[in-house]
Amino acid sequence: MADGDTDTGSARDTEELPPGPDGLPVLGNTHQYVRQPMGFFDELAEYGDIVHCEFPRIDAVAVFHPDYIGEVLLGQSTYERWNFDELKDLLDYEIAPQGLTFTRGEEWKKQRHFLQPMFGLDRLAGISSAMVTATEQLIAEWDDGAEISINEEFSRLTLSILTNSLFDFDLGERRQVITDAADELQALADLSGLSAVEMLLPSWVPTHGNRRYSKAMDAFDSTVDTLIAERRANPDQYDDLLTMMLEKEDDHEYSMSDDEIHDHLITFLIAGHETTAMALTFTWLLLATHPDAQDRVETEAGTALDGPPTAADLSELTVTERVAKEALRLYPPAGMLFREAVEETELGGYRIPAGTKVLLPQFTVHTDDRWFDAPEQFRPARFTPERSDRRPDFAYFPFGGGPHQCIGMHFAMMELKHIIPILARRVDLELVSSPTPDVNMELTLQPAEDVRMRVHKR
Ligand code: HEM
Repeated sequence: MADGDTDTGSARDTEELPPGPDGLPVLGNTHQYVRQPMGFFDELAEYGDIVHCEFPRIDAVAVFHPDYIGEVLLGQSTYERWNFDELKDLLDYEIAPQGLTFTRGEEWKKQRHFLQPMFGLDRLAGISSAMVTATEQLIAEWDDGAEISINEEFSRLTLSILTNSLFDFDLGERRQVITDAADELQALADLSGLSAVEMLLPSWVPTHGNRRYSKAMDAFDSTVDTLIAERRANPDQYDDLLTMMLEKEDDHEYSMSDDEIHDHLITFLIAGHETTAMALTFTWLLLATHPDAQDRVETEAGTALDGPPTAADLSELTVTERVAKEALRLYPPAGMLFREAVEETELGGYRIPAGTKVLLPQFTVHTDDRWFDAPEQFRPARFTPERSDRRPDFAYFPFGGGPHQCIGMHFAMMELKHIIPILARRVDLELVSSPTPDVNMELTLQPAEDVRMRVHKR
């Protein structure tokens, strides 16, 4: 895209539909979307800032300009989250239908209002030590000289931090049940590497792993029932997010059924696990290929911290924060946001018929040279406050924006700012796989192959 190519199209006839590629084989669109998402959307962006594209059974527009992205994310009465309703006809089960990522309207609003305080900074300070302990345990498990897949290691780490925060530390053997359920949810959501869009192919039949999934989820359900019962019986004994959800039961403002609590727990396990693991994986890939940046992170960890980070130290870790933000720019774990026009509307001078799916590809917008100089390069200094202020809102939106902005944003940033400095001080991770792995669009943006590194302990 060229500089200045920002025609807002206000004079256009609103009967006009957005431009887009004609005649591309429909299946080709779908596969390219999954296997080469960045290239696919770069090509679409050649058509303009709002571009029509088609997938099997889906009429969509992709939006590339921050102003229009803001209009979509803030215009909640016109654009609802696309809940992939089409999928529910194909699948005979739904994942956490009563959780925060699937409810809509008033029900979502009540839930969000209720859950928001649990993810506030003051509240999160209490789980700082869980982040430190889990990271140190992980490092202790690594043998000096061993070769590891950091994507898998970080996935274990973020799951462990999440389960400790949701369910306190004392899970004992029940931890395995939670881990199995999280694994099955991930596998189900990835469905052998098929993305949600690809699943809309009419011939797709969901048989993969169904039985194993049901078994794992049955075990998860009964464990959660036990955990809820334990907390009801001894409310003062626990200090975790589950207890907080139960605490408010008596205030009559809003109380949640056990089914709802169960769906929220699943939602957090899905939304908070692999996203943060991918943020860490790509951060470490970038640090391993940019030793100067790694040196700066290590120096900061040495000067700003006396020992392991605490919540009070986090505002001092500005270099670490910019590195994490730059990694989230180049490799935004969510990859893309999905909305649906619930009524006919107009966007950038184009007509958007009711039912149109609206795709907001973060990775394309984050690498647009209208907002980022040399966008392909890793330059954490772009995130100084002054330079950030000069960019339009929604040119950078790894955690989304508007009412559905990630509820776990502070949690995730806090995790990154704990784990990165601890690792920087304690180990050198030498990259042994490709410095530029292919990237797939699955439930999150994923490296197509494991990212392999050799551990050198300090
Ligand atoms: C680096 C890590 C993370 C990234 C990049 C990320 C990204 C996002 C994005 C882009 C959205 C908005 C989706 C949309 O508008 O359609 C979102 C929503 C959400 N995220 Fe995160 N997330 C991360 C970590 C977490 C964590 C740690 C949790 C929970 C513990 C979490 C829970 C949620 C939930 C529940 C929503 C739905 C919010 C709502 O609709 O009200 N996320 N996340």
